[in-house]
Amino acid sequence: MVDPKSIDFYSLGFNFIETNTMFVANHKNGKWDEGELVPFGKFEISPASCVLNYGQGIFEGMKALRGKNGEITLFRPEENGKRFNFSARRMLMPEYNSEKFIDAVKKVIKANEEFIPPYDSGGALYIRPILFGYGPILGVHSAEEFKLIIFTVPVGPYFPEGFKGIDLEISKLYTRAAPGGTGSAKTICNYAGTMLPAKEAKTRGFAQIIYLDAVHMEYIEEVGAANFFAMINDKLVTPRKTGTILEGITRESILELASKKLGLEVEERDISYKELYDESCTEAFCSGTAAVITPIASVALNGQVRILNNREPGEITIKLYELLTGIQRVEIEDEFGWIIKV
Ligand SMILES: Cc1ncc(COP(=O)(O)O)c(C=O)c1O
Repeated sequence: MVDPKSIDFYSLGFNFIETNTMFVANHKNGKWDEGELVPFGKFEISPASCVLNYGQGIFEGMKALRGKNGEITLFRPEENGKRFNFSARRMLMPEYNSEKFIDAVKKVIKANEEFIPPYDSGGALYIRPILFGYGPILGVHSAEEFKLIIFTVPVGPYFPEGFKGIDLEISKLYTRAAPGGTGSAKTICNYAGTMLPAKEAKTRGFAQIIYLDAVHMEYIEEVGAANFFAMINDKLVTPRKTGTILEGITRESILELASKKLGLEVEERDISYKELYDESCTEAFCSGTAAVITPIASVALNGQVRILNNREPGEITIKLYELLTGIQRVEIEDEFGWIIKV
């Protein structure tokens, strides 16, 4: 058992730290068992399991926050439940009832309550649901037994040094997803392939890669594990859903906040990377549960660098960041019904 008192919640990053309890449910003979809370720990798995051999696995990522008055909240968990089932269907795995999913998430949070970073630390309890083909197989087909696990990790604020822009490299070498593939599912397969490109970009001094579409190598898809936004000709634009991008819950929320709260014109469309080099592009940022809203300071391709807004977070980026985090931290009224109390 880890003593939560041994954790310095004020210096957390985004790294694995063990918490005490996880939720486990098993799917056998065509049905889910009740599932239960158990101590966090290892379990046995067959070397012939489908997930180890063929990558039949999916995950989700969400955060529980502690509010000023001590309340614990979740942001749109039903959307994570829906996406979890979308991903499960794509990977030929059984769905998990969405109400039971939220219920299990709440149970794990409550069981690990002492690991939720305090309000003034800016941190969160990151929640990681995973589902995978557990049973042994040999040919390329689905496992017959599946395991769902939900564990938690205390994480620090995304911006320990403040809200600063990142430098990104546009890749003409690597792609993340192709039409007809699994890009819009949160399957583990999509992530292993992005580790080498990300590492190479880091050695060149970039925080992450901007992936382009696999067909034309022209249209922006995503930034590592975050969605992309830019202000172009005074409109907020983001890549349209082509089946190759992960349809972020933060992305969806930002589109709504931009149009309903800021009165901005928003567009989901193909965005050529070349548009980022034009003066009409005034600011850009990326979004996600982990990234929240991260300003983009510059983009580069083959040594051609475009600095955005003097490397400062743009006006719209700041406004959206304040709105989104204000709602998430229960400091601004939640008129959209996005916040769930745990
Ligand atoms: C590839 C990818 N794109 C975008 C996102 C952002 O999605 P969300 O806002 O739901 O966290 C994530 C993170 O979940 C991701 O892994």
